[in-house]
Amino acid sequence: MSERVVLPRRRALRLLAATPLALAGCGEAVRALDAGVAAPDAGAGGADAAVCRPSGRDALGPFFEEGSPMRMVIAAPDEAGERLLVEGSLLDAADCARPLAGYVIDVWQADVDGNYHAAGASGHRLRGRIATGADGRFALETIKPGFYETGAGPRPAHLHLRVYAPDGGDRLVTQVYFAGDAFLGAADSCGPPTCFSNDPDRIMTLEPARVGGRDGLRGALRLVVAA
Ligand SMILES: [Fe+2]
Repeated sequence: MSERVVLPRRRALRLLAATPLALAGCGEAVRALDAGVAAPDAGAGGADAAVCRPSGRDALGPFFEEGSPMRMVIAAPDEAGERLLVEGSLLDAADCARPLAGYVIDVWQADVDGNYHAAGASGHRLRGRIATGADGRFALETIKPGFYETGAGPRPAHLHLRVYAPDGGDRLVTQVYFAGDAFLGAADSCGPPTCFSNDPDRIMTLEPARVGGRDGLRGALRLVVAA
């Protein structure tokens, strides 16, 4: 059973009215993050090696669920959509160099049609957790998600990520976007201070690649968090 993102207008208005923070018409819910999470405008600094900044946060959204299985392939073989390989590294914000091993990255996303799927009813469809290796690296195989409409307008395609330290401490809640998406930045119905699809450090450029034995896409991602 899938969850549609589009809320009935009456329910959406009720949610907005009950939310202490202004959502600016955004369909994503806001949650306070633990200390150590980056300021909204901070990026991973990937374009400027001289600047070391923690990766920027983004909205948690309403579809996060605890308890996803540990697995690097979160899309079943018959999941519709282009196969996507994300090759990532997780680094210490103290120097943007020390790899963070044994951290866990929780990933959840919409399917190619922009629908999220409840974990229990779908066998954790398009959900999973990945541990970083000794070199801080991780890899994720999935499908490229579709964009979706909220009551306020479109959201660009994105992956949701949540990073935990080995002791379980929450380090980062963010979203990762894709270069060339027509709904990035000003066209995103969820903008600052809630969503940050204008952050270039979290916009992946994809290239054709063989993924899981099929033609697909590949992108690199660097995440920087306080250890
Ligand atoms: Fe989302």
